[in-house]
Amino acid sequence: MNRLALFPVTVTIERDSLFLAGHSLASLADGHLTPLYVYDRATLDLAVAEYQSALRAYYPGESHITYAGKAFLCKAIAAWTQTHDLMIDCTGEGEIGIAVAGGVPREKILVHGVNKSLADLKSAFRNAGTIVVDNLSELERIRTQVDRDAGTHVHTYTGTQVNRFTRAQVSLWLRFTPGLAVKTHHTHTQTGQHDSKFGMTRDEILEAAKFCQENNLPLKGIHFHQGSNFRDPEPLIPAIDMALDIAKEIGFNGAWHFCPGGGWGVAYHEDELPNPPIESYVRGIAEAVVEGCQSRGLNLPVLHLEPGRSLVARAGVAIYRVGAIKQRGDKIWILTDGGMADNPRFALYGARYSCLPVAGLNREINAKVSIAGPYCESGDVVIEDLPMPELKEGELIAIPVAGAYHLSMSSNYNGARRPEVLLLEEGKAEVMLRRETVDDLLRRDP
Ligand SMILES: Cc1ncc(COP(=O)(O)O)c(C=O)c1O
Repeated sequence: MNRLALFPVTVTIERDSLFLAGHSLASLADGHLTPLYVYDRATLDLAVAEYQSALRAYYPGESHITYAGKAFLCKAIAAWTQTHDLMIDCTGEGEIGIAVAGGVPREKILVHGVNKSLADLKSAFRNAGTIVVDNLSELERIRTQVDRDAGTHVHTYTGTQVNRFTRAQVSLWLRFTPGLAVKTHHTHTQTGQHDSKFGMTRDEILEAAKFCQENNLPLKGIHFHQGSNFRDPEPLIPAIDMALDIAKEIGFNGAWHFCPGGGWGVAYHEDELPNPPIESYVRGIAEAVVEGCQSRGLNLPVLHLEPGRSLVARAGVAIYRVGAIKQRGDKIWILTDGGMADNPRFALYGARYSCLPVAGLNREINAKVSIAGPYCESGDVVIEDLPMPELKEGELIAIPVAGAYHLSMSSNYNGARRPEVLLLEEGKAEVMLRRETVDDLLRRDP
């Protein structure tokens, strides 16, 4: 059992307790209180480097990595993406606002959303370089918006008709639903299957492409995303083929963009180790795109990959303090100060986690414990039946692989105040998000 391998790459054990990037987790918890989230900068950087080197090795054309901001976004993370020249996938006006505040320029912002509001679209026109169109109604709304807010006008100097939308450099991609499911931990994280709410069928895509042509809308790419947290890239290959067939029918010429989404998985539990290699995922996609384009006589597209979880999950660790312990039948409940308000993944999909005590690591593992939070739901569980040493009230536990889809899906349930979040480097612990306060909870009340 190698639980330590689930933790960020800088994890060390010193004086029988956990350290990250040279920081004692116990001291951080004492100084910043719990629940506390910490992100390890070196682990974030390493994940990007793995994607970049695999793309360089296997894809001969231009390529980009787009960080799926839904995994975890704040200004500091948005700024971090720019240190690696990443694009950011933003779902709607809120995430666009955070990306802009974090200094992400227009050409790096790509906007997703299954039912984008007018406010989302307007924000995208103002701030983004790419909109991934989910459906035909949205496309109609985009056209109307373009006509209303920008429209065509005669260029003062050249006398030619100029579409301001085009000048504003917002290009459109169409989101395709391949009708093929990838194997994920739970059906709620599948998005590419035939009855999915996301994207358009082949016929709808072709109709959308015709609409773009007739309305002079700048159609530049095809996108699909089959699901989140899968380990087997096989189902991506037929989906890529279907998407390339569509690209051929649309007749993209010159530079065009192709994105087979994100979704590469990570290990959350020692039973799942090792982590699935990013290289095999990127290689599978790159080879399928190169071969598929050659056999169809298509130009190689600019290839975009859109990972969220596989960039940030392993970098994050949640630190909770044990408040009380109850034995109920065979079950030992370890009650902590964090739970479903900062990590709803067990409640949403029965996600499995592991953990370690922050100190006293050489104790014998002689108990099977379940870890639950302080919230008024029986589903407020983080871990079920995990072998652990006997824990005591007041001690700290560290839950690895806490960097994705925890805080971005967090809530104020029961008046929970979202935890403080630190970015750790050797000799530096920067507050990325301060802890919420009761005043924050009251801020929206009139
Ligand atoms: C459109 C889109 N792209 C990318 C992602 C990122 O997925 P993951 O975090 O599993 O890589 C998601 C997540 O569901 C998504 O909906």
